Amino acid sequence: MPIRFLLGDEERSLDGVPPTLTVLEYLRRHERRTGTKEGCAEGDCGACTVVLSEPDGEGGLRHRAVNSCIQFVSVLHGRQLTTVEDLAASDGALHPIQQALVDKHGSQCGFCTPGFVMQLYAGWLEGVLTDRQSVKDWLAGNLCRCTGYGPIVDAGLEAATKPAPKDTAAETAKRLGALADGPMLAMGEGESRVFAPRSSDELAEVYAAHPDAVIVSGATDVGLWVTKQHRHLNTLIDVTRVKDLAVVENDAEGLTIGATVSHRDATAALAKLHTDLGELFRRFASIQIRNAGTVGGNIANGSPIGDLPPALIALNALLTLRRDSERREIPLEDFFIAYGKQDRAPGEFVESVFVPRLSDDHRFACYKLSKRFDQDISAVMGAFLVRLDRGKVAEARMAFGGMAATPKRAEKAEAALVGSAFDEAAVAAAVAALAEDFSPIDDMRASAAYRLKAAQNLLRRFHLENTAEKPATRVLELVP
Ligand SMILES: Cc1cc2nc3c(=O)[nH]c(=O)nc-3n(C[C@H](O)[C@H](O)[C@H](O)COP(=O)(O)OP(=O)(O)OC[C@H]3O[C@@H](n4cnc5c(N)ncnc54)[C@H](O)[C@@H]3O)c2cc1C
Ligand code: FES
Ligand code: FES
Repeated sequence: MPIRFLLGDEERSLDGVPPTLTVLEYLRRHERRTGTKEGCAEGDCGACTVVLSEPDGEGGLRHRAVNSCIQFVSVLHGRQLTTVEDLAASDGALHPIQQALVDKHGSQCGFCTPGFVMQLYAGWLEGVLTDRQSVKDWLAGNLCRCTGYGPIVDAGLEAATKPAPKDTAAETAKRLGALADGPMLAMGEGESRVFAPRSSDELAEVYAAHPDAVIVSGATDVGLWVTKQHRHLNTLIDVTRVKDLAVVENDAEGLTIGATVSHRDATAALAKLHTDLGELFRRFASIQIRNAGTVGGNIANGSPIGDLPPALIALNALLTLRRDSERREIPLEDFFIAYGKQDRAPGEFVESVFVPRLSDDHRFACYKLSKRFDQDISAVMGAFLVRLDRGKVAEARMAFGGMAATPKRAEKAEAALVGSAFDEAAVAAAVAALAEDFSPIDDMRASAAYRLKAAQNLLRRFHLENTAEKPATRVLELVP
Protein backbone atom coordinates (compact mmCIF):
# COMPACT_ATOMS: atom_id res chain seq x y z
CA MET A 1 0.00 0.00 0.00
CA PRO A 2 1.48 3.39 -0.94
CA ILE A 3 1.65 6.46 1.28
CA ARG A 4 -1.54 8.41 0.49
CA PHE A 5 -2.04 11.98 1.62
CA LEU A 6 -3.02 15.50 0.67
CA LEU A 7 -0.37 18.01 -0.32
CA GLY A 8 -2.29 21.21 0.25
CA ASP A 9 -5.50 20.38 -1.53
CA GLU A 10 -4.11 17.84 -3.98
CA GLU A 11 -4.04 14.09 -3.53
CA ARG A 12 -0.67 12.34 -3.61
CA SER A 13 0.36 8.70 -3.59
CA LEU A 14 4.00 7.84 -2.88
CA ASP A 15 5.47 4.44 -3.55
CA GLY A 16 8.96 3.08 -4.11
CA VAL A 17 10.69 5.90 -2.19
CA PRO A 18 13.17 5.15 0.60
CA PRO A 19 11.28 4.98 3.91
CA THR A 20 13.85 7.34 5.41
CA LEU A 21 13.21 10.03 2.80
CA THR A 22 12.47 13.10 4.89
CA VAL A 23 9.41 15.23 4.28
CA LEU A 24 11.73 18.18 3.59
CA GLU A 25 13.72 16.28 0.95
CA TYR A 26 10.48 15.08 -0.58
CA LEU A 27 9.14 18.64 -0.80
CA ARG A 28 12.29 20.21 -2.16
CA ARG A 29 13.56 17.47 -4.51
CA HIS A 30 10.45 15.59 -5.57
CA GLU A 31 7.87 18.38 -5.56
CA ARG A 32 10.26 21.28 -6.20
CA ARG A 33 8.46 23.13 -3.43
CA THR A 34 11.51 25.03 -2.30
CA GLY A 35 9.68 27.52 -0.08
CA THR A 36 10.35 25.21 2.87
CA LYS A 37 13.98 25.78 3.86
CA GLU A 38 16.70 23.65 5.39
CA GLY A 39 18.70 25.41 8.09
CA CYS A 40 20.05 22.82 10.49
CA ALA A 41 18.46 19.48 9.47
CA GLU A 42 18.15 18.57 13.15
CA GLY A 43 14.95 20.14 14.41
CA ASP A 44 16.62 23.15 16.00
CA CYS A 45 16.01 26.18 13.79
CA GLY A 46 12.40 25.88 12.55
CA ALA A 47 13.16 26.98 8.95
CA CYS A 48 11.58 23.76 7.66
CA THR A 49 8.32 24.06 9.64
CA VAL A 50 5.22 22.65 7.93
CA VAL A 51 1.74 21.88 9.22
CA LEU A 52 0.32 18.36 9.38
CA SER A 53 -3.44 18.01 9.79
CA GLU A 54 -5.41 14.87 10.57
CA PRO A 55 -9.04 14.04 11.35
CA ASP A 56 -9.79 14.88 14.99
CA GLY A 57 -12.38 12.12 15.33
CA GLU A 58 -15.19 14.66 15.63
CA GLY A 59 -15.58 15.53 11.98
CA GLY A 60 -12.96 18.28 12.04
CA LEU A 61 -9.19 18.54 11.81
CA ARG A 62 -6.37 18.75 14.27
CA HIS A 63 -3.33 20.73 13.15
CA ARG A 64 0.26 20.34 14.25
CA ALA A 65 3.40 22.23 13.21
CA VAL A 66 6.41 19.93 12.83
CA ASN A 67 10.00 20.11 11.59
CA SER A 68 9.89 18.53 8.13
CA CYS A 69 13.69 18.01 8.13
CA ILE A 70 13.47 15.12 10.60
CA GLN A 71 10.11 13.60 9.69
CA PHE A 72 10.04 10.60 7.37
CA VAL A 73 7.45 10.44 4.58
CA SER A 74 5.39 7.64 6.16
CA VAL A 75 4.09 10.21 8.69
CA LEU A 76 2.13 11.76 5.80
CA HIS A 77 -0.14 8.75 5.33
CA GLY A 78 -3.77 9.81 5.87
CA ARG A 79 -2.71 13.37 6.72
CA GLN A 80 -2.69 16.74 5.02
CA LEU A 81 0.66 18.46 4.50
CA THR A 82 0.47 22.24 4.25
CA THR A 83 3.52 24.25 3.23
CA VAL A 84 4.15 27.95 2.84
CA GLU A 85 3.21 27.68 -0.86
CA ASP A 86 -0.34 26.75 0.14
CA LEU A 87 -0.99 29.89 2.13
CA ALA A 88 -0.99 32.68 -0.43
CA ALA A 89 -4.21 32.74 -2.47
CA SER A 90 -3.97 32.08 -6.22
CA ASP A 91 -4.77 35.75 -6.94
CA GLY A 92 -1.58 36.65 -5.08
CA ALA A 93 -3.32 37.91 -1.94
CA LEU A 94 -1.28 37.12 1.13
CA HIS A 95 -2.52 35.13 4.10
CA PRO A 96 -3.09 37.39 7.18
CA ILE A 97 0.09 35.92 8.74
CA GLN A 98 2.17 36.79 5.67
CA GLN A 99 0.58 40.24 5.42
CA ALA A 100 1.27 40.93 9.09
CA LEU A 101 4.94 39.99 8.64
CA VAL A 102 5.14 42.46 5.73
CA ASP A 103 3.32 45.20 7.62
CA LYS A 104 5.42 44.79 10.76
CA HIS A 105 8.73 44.48 8.86
CA GLY A 106 9.21 40.96 10.22
CA SER A 107 11.56 39.74 7.49
CA GLN A 108 14.99 40.78 6.21
CA CYS A 109 17.03 38.12 4.38
CA GLY A 110 13.87 35.99 4.46
CA PHE A 111 15.52 32.60 4.95
CA CYS A 112 13.76 31.95 8.24
CA THR A 113 10.49 33.56 7.11
CA PRO A 114 8.67 30.51 5.67
CA GLY A 115 9.30 28.71 8.96
CA PHE A 116 7.95 31.62 11.00
CA VAL A 117 4.95 31.89 8.66
CA MET A 118 4.10 28.23 9.10
CA GLN A 119 4.67 28.20 12.86
CA LEU A 120 2.49 31.31 13.28
CA TYR A 121 -0.06 29.83 10.89
CA ALA A 122 -0.33 26.75 13.13
CA GLY A 123 -0.76 29.00 16.17
CA TRP A 124 -3.38 31.02 14.34
CA LEU A 125 -5.26 27.80 13.45
CA GLU A 126 -5.06 26.60 17.04
CA GLY A 127 -6.05 30.04 18.40
CA VAL A 128 -3.18 30.14 20.90
CA LEU A 129 -1.49 33.44 19.98
CA THR A 130 -3.23 35.29 22.78
CA ASP A 131 -0.55 37.56 24.24
CA ARG A 132 3.12 38.44 23.90
CA GLN A 133 4.37 35.66 26.18
CA SER A 134 2.30 33.01 24.42
CA VAL A 135 3.67 34.12 21.03
CA LYS A 136 7.23 34.02 22.39
CA ASP A 137 6.74 30.51 23.79
CA TRP A 138 5.14 29.49 20.51
CA LEU A 139 8.15 30.71 18.51
CA ALA A 140 10.85 29.23 20.77
CA GLY A 141 11.82 26.75 18.04
CA ASN A 142 12.25 29.30 15.25
CA LEU A 143 15.54 31.12 14.86
CA CYS A 144 16.05 34.38 13.01
CA ARG A 145 19.53 35.72 12.52
CA CYS A 146 18.81 39.18 11.12
CA THR A 147 15.38 40.67 11.77
CA GLY A 148 15.19 40.44 15.53
CA TYR A 149 12.20 38.89 17.21
CA GLY A 150 10.26 42.03 18.18
CA PRO A 151 8.64 42.65 14.77
CA ILE A 152 7.96 38.92 14.30
CA VAL A 153 6.16 38.70 17.64
CA ASP A 154 4.22 41.88 16.71
CA ALA A 155 3.18 40.21 13.45
CA GLY A 156 1.97 37.12 15.33
CA LEU A 157 -0.15 39.26 17.63
CA GLU A 158 -1.52 41.30 14.76
CA ALA A 159 -2.46 38.25 12.65
CA ALA A 160 -4.12 36.51 15.60
CA THR A 161 -6.96 39.02 15.42
CA LYS A 162 -7.75 38.29 11.75
CA PRO A 163 -10.66 35.95 10.97
CA ALA A 164 -10.24 32.48 9.50
CA PRO A 165 -11.01 32.06 5.80
CA LYS A 166 -13.63 29.57 4.62
CA ASP A 167 -13.60 26.48 6.82
CA THR A 168 -13.03 23.34 4.76
CA ALA A 169 -12.05 21.13 7.69
CA ALA A 170 -15.04 18.76 7.54
CA GLU A 171 -14.58 18.10 3.83
CA THR A 172 -10.81 17.61 4.23
CA ALA A 173 -11.31 15.25 7.19
CA LYS A 174 -13.57 13.10 5.03
CA ARG A 175 -11.05 13.01 2.19
CA LEU A 176 -8.26 12.02 4.59
CA GLY A 177 -10.37 9.25 6.10
CA ALA A 178 -10.92 7.81 2.63
CA LEU A 179 -7.21 8.04 1.73
CA ALA A 180 -6.11 6.00 4.75
CA ASP A 181 -8.96 3.53 4.47
CA GLY A 182 -7.90 -0.03 3.72
CA PRO A 183 -5.09 -2.23 4.99
CA MET A 184 -2.18 -1.11 7.14
CA LEU A 185 0.42 0.98 5.31
CA ALA A 186 3.23 -1.35 4.22
CA MET A 187 5.54 0.24 1.67
CA GLY A 188 8.72 -1.09 0.13
CA GLU A 189 10.32 -4.50 0.16
CA GLY A 190 13.45 -6.39 1.14
CA GLU A 191 15.80 -4.21 3.15
CA SER A 192 13.92 -0.98 2.66
CA ARG A 193 10.39 -0.92 3.94
CA VAL A 194 8.05 0.68 6.40
CA PHE A 195 4.94 -0.50 8.19
CA ALA A 196 2.47 1.80 9.92
CA PRO A 197 0.26 -0.28 12.27
CA ARG A 198 -3.00 1.28 13.44
CA SER A 199 -3.42 -0.38 16.82
CA SER A 200 -1.20 -1.77 19.57
CA ASP A 201 -2.24 -5.30 18.58
CA GLU A 202 -1.19 -4.68 15.00
CA LEU A 203 2.07 -3.15 16.26
CA ALA A 204 2.73 -6.18 18.49
CA GLU A 205 2.14 -8.49 15.55
CA VAL A 206 4.34 -6.60 13.08
CA TYR A 207 7.14 -6.10 15.61
CA ALA A 208 7.09 -9.78 16.61
CA ALA A 209 7.46 -10.67 12.93
CA HIS A 210 10.25 -8.06 12.41
CA PRO A 211 12.07 -7.79 15.76
CA ASP A 212 15.05 -6.07 14.06
CA ALA A 213 12.89 -3.20 12.82
CA VAL A 214 13.40 0.33 14.13
CA ILE A 215 10.33 1.82 15.79
CA VAL A 216 9.82 5.41 14.68
CA SER A 217 7.55 7.40 16.95
CA GLY A 218 8.03 11.19 16.80
CA ALA A 219 11.34 10.73 14.91
CA THR A 220 12.91 13.55 16.92
CA ASP A 221 15.80 11.22 17.69
CA VAL A 222 15.59 8.71 14.85
CA GLY A 223 15.34 11.48 12.24
CA LEU A 224 18.75 12.74 13.32
CA TRP A 225 20.31 9.26 12.99
CA VAL A 226 19.60 9.70 9.28
CA THR A 227 20.21 13.42 8.70
CA LYS A 228 23.24 13.80 10.98
CA GLN A 229 24.74 10.34 11.40
CA HIS A 230 23.87 9.18 7.87
CA ARG A 231 22.82 5.82 9.23
CA HIS A 232 21.12 3.38 6.92
CA LEU A 233 17.96 1.98 8.50
CA ASN A 234 16.29 -1.09 7.07
CA THR A 235 12.78 -1.91 8.23
CA LEU A 236 10.91 0.88 10.00
CA ILE A 237 7.74 0.63 12.05
CA ASP A 238 6.04 4.02 12.11
CA VAL A 239 3.82 4.14 15.20
CA THR A 240 2.26 7.55 14.57
CA ARG A 241 -1.01 5.91 13.56
CA VAL A 242 -1.33 3.63 16.63
CA LYS A 243 -4.39 5.32 18.04
CA ASP A 244 -4.98 3.30 21.21
CA LEU A 245 -1.50 4.20 22.52
CA ALA A 246 -2.04 7.91 21.89
CA VAL A 247 -4.33 8.16 24.90
CA VAL A 248 -3.92 9.42 28.48
CA GLU A 249 -6.16 7.58 30.97
CA ASN A 250 -6.89 9.44 34.15
CA ASP A 251 -8.28 7.74 37.28
CA ALA A 252 -8.15 8.07 41.03
CA GLU A 253 -4.81 6.24 41.22
CA GLY A 254 -2.97 8.22 38.57
CA LEU A 255 -2.30 8.67 34.87
CA THR A 256 -1.63 5.96 32.34
CA ILE A 257 0.14 7.60 29.41
CA GLY A 258 0.26 5.63 26.16
CA ALA A 259 3.66 5.42 24.46
CA THR A 260 2.63 7.43 21.40
CA VAL A 261 1.16 10.35 23.35
CA SER A 262 3.09 13.42 22.18
CA HIS A 263 4.76 15.70 24.70
CA ARG A 264 2.30 18.38 23.71
CA ASP A 265 -0.66 16.14 24.48
CA ALA A 266 0.85 14.88 27.73
CA THR A 267 1.46 18.42 29.02
CA ALA A 268 -2.01 19.27 30.28
CA ALA A 269 -2.50 15.96 32.10
CA LEU A 270 0.93 16.00 33.73
CA ALA A 271 0.68 19.71 34.63
CA LYS A 272 -2.47 18.88 36.58
CA LEU A 273 -0.52 16.28 38.52
CA HIS A 274 2.02 18.98 39.43
CA THR A 275 2.68 22.48 38.06
CA ASP A 276 6.40 21.80 37.70
CA LEU A 277 5.67 19.13 35.10
CA GLY A 278 3.88 21.75 32.97
CA GLU A 279 6.86 24.07 33.39
CA LEU A 280 9.23 21.24 32.45
CA PHE A 281 7.39 20.79 29.16
CA ARG A 282 7.61 24.52 28.42
CA ARG A 283 11.38 24.11 28.66
CA PHE A 284 11.36 20.88 26.62
CA ALA A 285 12.60 21.64 23.09
CA SER A 286 10.07 23.59 21.00
CA ILE A 287 6.39 23.33 20.08
CA GLN A 288 7.33 21.56 16.83
CA ILE A 289 9.41 18.95 18.68
CA ARG A 290 6.78 18.56 21.41
CA ASN A 291 4.12 18.03 18.74
CA ALA A 292 6.09 15.13 17.27
CA GLY A 293 8.18 13.71 20.13
CA THR A 294 6.47 11.17 22.35
CA VAL A 295 6.57 10.06 25.95
CA GLY A 296 7.39 6.50 24.80
CA GLY A 297 10.27 7.75 22.65
CA ASN A 298 11.73 9.83 25.49
CA ILE A 299 11.80 6.74 27.70
CA ALA A 300 12.79 4.15 25.10
CA ASN A 301 15.79 6.10 23.81
CA GLY A 302 17.46 5.66 27.22
CA SER A 303 19.18 9.04 27.03
CA PRO A 304 21.03 10.09 30.20
CA ILE A 305 19.81 13.64 29.55
CA GLY A 306 16.18 12.96 28.65
CA ASP A 307 13.95 15.25 30.67
CA LEU A 308 10.97 13.06 31.48
CA PRO A 309 12.62 9.96 32.99
CA PRO A 310 14.06 11.67 36.12
CA ALA A 311 10.72 13.36 36.84
CA LEU A 312 8.77 10.15 36.32
CA ILE A 313 11.24 8.05 38.32
CA ALA A 314 10.92 10.44 41.28
CA LEU A 315 7.15 10.08 40.95
CA ASN A 316 7.50 6.29 41.23
CA ALA A 317 6.28 5.57 37.69
CA LEU A 318 5.75 2.05 36.37
CA LEU A 319 6.54 1.06 32.81
CA THR A 320 4.55 -1.47 30.79
CA LEU A 321 6.44 -3.34 28.09
CA ARG A 322 4.80 -5.63 25.60
CA ARG A 323 6.07 -8.36 23.30
CA ASP A 324 3.52 -10.11 21.14
CA SER A 325 0.68 -10.78 23.59
CA GLU A 326 2.88 -10.77 26.72
CA ARG A 327 3.09 -7.74 28.98
CA ARG A 328 5.31 -6.99 31.96
CA GLU A 329 5.36 -4.06 34.35
CA ILE A 330 8.59 -2.76 35.90
CA PRO A 331 9.58 0.29 37.94
CA LEU A 332 10.73 2.88 35.39
CA GLU A 333 14.16 3.20 37.04
CA ASP A 334 14.88 -0.51 36.38
CA PHE A 335 14.46 0.01 32.65
CA PHE A 336 17.76 1.93 32.42
CA ILE A 337 20.56 -0.60 32.81
CA ALA A 338 23.65 1.18 31.46
CA TYR A 339 24.53 3.78 28.84
CA GLY A 340 22.69 2.77 25.65
CA LYS A 341 21.35 -0.41 27.32
CA GLN A 342 17.75 -0.75 28.39
CA ASP A 343 15.77 -3.69 29.73
CA ARG A 344 13.97 -4.36 26.45
CA ALA A 345 14.05 -7.63 24.48
CA PRO A 346 13.94 -7.84 20.67
CA GLY A 347 10.36 -7.35 19.50
CA GLU A 348 9.37 -5.78 22.83
CA PHE A 349 8.06 -2.23 22.88
CA VAL A 350 7.11 0.42 25.41
CA GLU A 351 3.34 0.36 25.68
CA SER A 352 2.57 2.86 28.44
CA VAL A 353 3.78 4.45 31.64
CA PHE A 354 1.71 4.75 34.81
CA VAL A 355 2.31 7.84 36.97
CA PRO A 356 0.76 7.68 40.47
CA ARG A 357 -1.11 10.68 41.82
CA LEU A 358 0.50 12.71 44.63
CA SER A 359 -1.13 12.85 48.04
CA ASP A 360 -1.35 15.88 50.35
CA ASP A 361 1.64 14.54 52.29
CA HIS A 362 3.86 14.59 49.22
CA ARG A 363 6.17 17.44 48.30
CA PHE A 364 7.45 17.35 44.73
CA ALA A 365 9.50 19.53 42.40
CA CYS A 366 11.53 19.13 39.26
CA TYR A 367 14.03 21.56 37.81
CA LYS A 368 15.77 21.71 34.45
CA LEU A 369 19.09 23.53 34.18
CA SER A 370 20.32 24.35 30.70
CA LYS A 371 22.38 27.07 29.09
CA ARG A 372 19.39 28.61 27.29
CA PHE A 373 15.91 28.89 28.72
CA ASP A 374 14.20 27.63 25.56
CA GLN A 375 14.98 24.77 23.22
CA ASP A 376 18.00 23.39 25.02
CA ILE A 377 19.06 20.02 26.38
CA SER A 378 19.54 19.80 30.17
CA ALA A 379 22.96 20.06 31.74
CA VAL A 380 21.32 18.77 34.92
CA MET A 381 17.74 17.79 35.53
CA GLY A 382 16.70 17.10 39.11
CA ALA A 383 13.42 15.73 40.42
CA PHE A 384 12.57 15.45 44.11
CA LEU A 385 9.78 13.81 46.03
CA VAL A 386 9.36 13.48 49.79
CA ARG A 387 6.43 12.19 51.78
CA LEU A 388 6.10 13.69 55.22
CA ASP A 389 4.55 11.89 58.15
CA ARG A 390 4.17 13.85 61.39
CA GLY A 391 7.02 16.17 60.42
CA LYS A 392 9.42 13.38 59.44
CA VAL A 393 10.46 12.20 56.01
CA ALA A 394 8.72 8.85 55.52
CA GLU A 395 9.78 8.45 51.89
CA ALA A 396 12.32 10.22 49.67
CA ARG A 397 12.93 9.79 45.98
CA MET A 398 15.42 11.90 44.03
CA ALA A 399 16.32 11.28 40.43
CA PHE A 400 18.72 13.10 38.17
CA GLY A 401 19.48 13.42 34.50
CA GLY A 402 22.92 14.52 33.30
CA MET A 403 24.64 13.12 36.40
CA ALA A 404 25.38 9.56 35.26
CA ALA A 405 25.25 7.29 32.23
CA THR A 406 21.52 6.76 32.79
CA PRO A 407 18.73 8.66 34.53
CA LYS A 408 19.46 7.60 38.11
CA ARG A 409 18.21 7.81 41.68
CA ALA A 410 20.37 9.30 44.43
CA GLU A 411 20.00 6.46 46.89
CA LYS A 412 22.51 7.63 49.49
CA ALA A 413 21.04 11.12 49.56
CA GLU A 414 17.56 9.63 49.89
CA ALA A 415 18.69 7.47 52.81
CA ALA A 416 20.13 10.56 54.53
CA LEU A 417 16.66 12.11 54.58
CA VAL A 418 14.42 9.19 55.47
CA GLY A 419 13.50 9.04 59.15
CA SER A 420 14.67 12.61 59.86
CA ALA A 421 12.78 15.83 60.16
CA PHE A 422 12.82 17.68 56.82
CA ASP A 423 15.20 20.28 58.22
CA GLU A 424 18.50 21.93 57.38
CA ALA A 425 20.64 19.34 59.14
CA ALA A 426 19.09 16.42 57.24
CA VAL A 427 19.28 18.31 53.96
CA ALA A 428 22.97 19.14 54.58
CA ALA A 429 23.64 15.41 55.11
CA ALA A 430 21.76 14.57 51.91
CA VAL A 431 23.66 17.27 50.00
CA ALA A 432 26.95 15.72 51.16
CA ALA A 433 25.71 12.24 50.23
CA LEU A 434 25.03 13.35 46.65
CA ALA A 435 28.80 13.47 46.14
CA GLU A 436 28.88 9.73 46.93
CA ASP A 437 25.91 8.97 44.68
CA PHE A 438 27.37 10.54 41.54
CA SER A 439 30.65 11.16 39.73
CA PRO A 440 29.29 13.17 36.81
CA ILE A 441 31.11 13.61 33.51
CA ASP A 442 32.73 16.71 32.08
CA ASP A 443 31.47 17.69 28.65
CA MET A 444 30.66 20.77 26.59
CA ARG A 445 27.38 21.26 28.43
CA ALA A 446 28.86 21.39 31.92
CA SER A 447 31.88 20.38 33.96
CA ALA A 448 31.65 17.57 36.51
CA ALA A 449 32.13 20.05 39.35
CA TYR A 450 29.35 22.28 38.04
CA ARG A 451 26.95 19.38 37.68
CA LEU A 452 27.54 18.17 41.22
CA LYS A 453 27.30 21.66 42.71
CA ALA A 454 24.14 22.38 40.71
CA ALA A 455 22.51 19.10 41.80
CA GLN A 456 23.32 19.89 45.43
CA ASN A 457 21.90 23.39 45.09
CA LEU A 458 18.72 22.05 43.49
CA LEU A 459 18.18 19.86 46.53
CA ARG A 460 18.67 22.92 48.78
CA ARG A 461 16.22 24.82 46.63
CA PHE A 462 13.65 22.04 46.92
CA HIS A 463 14.00 22.20 50.69
CA LEU A 464 13.74 26.01 50.75
CA GLU A 465 10.66 26.02 48.55
CA ASN A 466 8.96 23.66 50.91
CA THR A 467 9.87 25.41 54.12
CA ALA A 468 10.50 29.15 53.61
CA GLU A 469 7.50 31.42 53.52
CA LYS A 470 7.99 33.05 50.14
CA PRO A 471 11.07 31.61 48.51
CA ALA A 472 12.46 33.75 45.68
CA THR A 473 13.71 30.74 43.76
CA ARG A 474 11.82 31.03 40.48
CA VAL A 475 12.72 33.49 37.75
CA LEU A 476 9.50 33.26 35.77
CA GLU A 477 5.85 32.81 36.52
CA LEU A 478 4.90 29.15 36.33
CA VAL A 479 2.65 28.13 33.47
CA PRO A 480 -0.84 27.90 35.00
C1 LIG B 1 15.76 20.07 18.55
C2 LIG B 1 15.57 19.00 19.58
C3 LIG B 1 15.40 19.37 20.90
C4 LIG B 1 15.24 18.38 21.87
N1 LIG B 1 15.06 18.79 23.17
C5 LIG B 1 14.88 17.86 24.13
C6 LIG B 1 14.66 18.26 25.47
O1 LIG B 1 14.59 19.46 25.80
N2 LIG B 1 14.51 17.28 26.39
C7 LIG B 1 14.55 15.95 26.07
O2 LIG B 1 14.41 15.11 26.93
N3 LIG B 1 14.75 15.55 24.80
C8 LIG B 1 14.90 16.47 23.82
N4 LIG B 1 15.10 16.06 22.53
C9 LIG B 1 15.18 14.63 22.22
C10 LIG B 1 13.85 14.03 21.73
O3 LIG B 1 12.96 15.01 21.27
C11 LIG B 1 13.13 13.28 22.82
O4 LIG B 1 13.94 12.29 23.36
C12 LIG B 1 11.83 12.64 22.34
O5 LIG B 1 11.02 12.35 23.44
C13 LIG B 1 12.02 11.36 21.55
O6 LIG B 1 10.73 10.86 21.25
P1 LIG B 1 10.32 10.44 19.77
O7 LIG B 1 8.91 10.01 19.83
O8 LIG B 1 10.64 11.52 18.81
O9 LIG B 1 11.29 9.21 19.56
P2 LIG B 1 11.88 8.57 18.24
O10 LIG B 1 12.95 9.45 17.67
O11 LIG B 1 10.80 8.18 17.33
O12 LIG B 1 12.53 7.27 18.88
C14 LIG B 1 13.57 7.35 19.85
C15 LIG B 1 14.03 5.94 20.23
O13 LIG B 1 13.01 5.26 20.92
C16 LIG B 1 12.58 4.09 20.22
N5 LIG B 1 11.14 4.02 20.42
C17 LIG B 1 10.23 5.02 20.21
N6 LIG B 1 9.02 4.63 20.65
C18 LIG B 1 9.15 3.38 21.14
C19 LIG B 1 8.26 2.46 21.75
N7 LIG B 1 6.97 2.74 21.93
N8 LIG B 1 8.76 1.27 22.15
C20 LIG B 1 10.06 0.97 21.98
N9 LIG B 1 10.95 1.79 21.40
C21 LIG B 1 10.50 2.99 21.00
C22 LIG B 1 13.03 4.30 18.79
O14 LIG B 1 13.21 3.07 18.11
C23 LIG B 1 14.34 5.03 19.03
O15 LIG B 1 15.33 4.12 19.41
C24 LIG B 1 15.26 17.02 21.52
C25 LIG B 1 15.42 16.65 20.19
C26 LIG B 1 15.57 17.62 19.22
C27 LIG B 1 15.73 17.21 17.79
S1 FES C 1 16.04 22.65 9.12
FE1 FES C 1 16.31 23.44 11.10
S2 FES C 1 14.61 22.64 12.14
FE2 FES C 1 14.52 21.69 10.24
S1 FES D 1 15.18 37.32 8.21
FE1 FES D 1 17.18 36.59 7.94
S2 FES D 1 17.30 34.89 9.30
FE2 FES D 1 15.40 35.79 9.72
